[in-house]
Amino acid sequence: MAKIALTPRMMAFGDCAVATVGLLAIIVATSKSIAAEWQGQIGAIVWIATVLFAIEIHLCAEFVRAAGVPWMTGWVRAVTGYLRTPAGSIDLMAVLAIPIPTLLGLNDESARLFGLVWVLKYARYSSGLVLLGRVMRNAADSLLSVLLGFVIVLIAAANAMYLLEGESQPDQFGSIPLAMWWAIVTLTTTGYGDVTPLTVLGRMLGGIVMVCGIAMFGLMAGILASGFADELRRREFLQTWDLVARVPFFHDLGADKIAAVARLLKRREMSAGQVVMRRGQPGEAMYFVVEGEVEVDLVSGPVRLAHGKFFGEMALITGEPRSVTVTAKETCLLLELDVADFRQLAGDSPELLRAIADEAARRRG
Ligand code: CMP
Repeated sequence: MAKIALTPRMMAFGDCAVATVGLLAIIVATSKSIAAEWQGQIGAIVWIATVLFAIEIHLCAEFVRAAGVPWMTGWVRAVTGYLRTPAGSIDLMAVLAIPIPTLLGLNDESARLFGLVWVLKYARYSSGLVLLGRVMRNAADSLLSVLLGFVIVLIAAANAMYLLEGESQPDQFGSIPLAMWWAIVTLTTTGYGDVTPLTVLGRMLGGIVMVCGIAMFGLMAGILASGFADELRRREFLQTWDLVARVPFFHDLGADKIAAVARLLKRREMSAGQVVMRRGQPGEAMYFVVEGEVEVDLVSGPVRLAHGKFFGEMALITGEPRSVTVTAKETCLLLELDVADFRQLAGDSPELLRAIADEAARRRG
């Protein structure tokens, strides 16, 4: 690993930069005048990008090897193992996109167009697309049901229109496949206006199909939106779970209790100098320090609380205002437990409440 000064972040940046330059070259080369004038340079850019992508596969395999994956210790194994991963398959496709069509005898101009698969390089690094993929997989059943409803309405509408207007407009509705163009345009509420019903019944049907289209897209949007919300909640829960497991105070809890606690806690990031709570304010939450340090401004002198410590518990226990001001001394990552969740946690885990109350008593003393 010491041989490689590159970090995965730098690699991702370089990879996307090379893909961008390569794609731009391919796209502008489709303009005949530019291609004629810059033929050599465009060819050079495209082939240099291909070579850089090949070197990248080697570097990624080195990263895998350095990470110590046991069955990928040799270079050949590391490369073949890496190429079998989704990211590796995209990288392999990027390397072979232009050489293979060239070897098969396509001219430079046509072979270059296969380089447009380099656009997948962006997908390789986009966490948003990975998230979308998960959401689609999770909601596949519901989305398929809506799609099926869409197909049923589409066929029924095309069929009805063929019966209603097939004779009066044979070139537009003379067969069911012909009528399907109108049905799709109407269902998706695109409305080009190139094919329109003329009879009263036909227009009434058109109205119903438009409303069905809106309802179906609304349903699909709803399914995807709730899928995204669920997935984000799940991610946040997993992150919080990791943080909770890192706080020594919760170490003795079992996995199921940690999961229950993780549901109650919220991540809070504080910047250096930010006041977390001010003396005299009502107590609405207590905090556990995961990263960084906070300073408790006691009359006897400031006290610092770092990883694993908690604060803000006194006001929750006694119902009195905050006893002192607490300020973040550096960028801090805290877990917040609000007063309602504190009561729930106290009911579910009396041993935790006892530990918190003992510490509060010690501090007060
Ligand atoms: P609370 O009174 O809700 O808000 C201020 C917090 O500072 C308080 O709860 C305690 O969590 C914390 N605090 C008060 N006294 C001490 C102390 N002596 N040592 C560490 N923390 C303290």
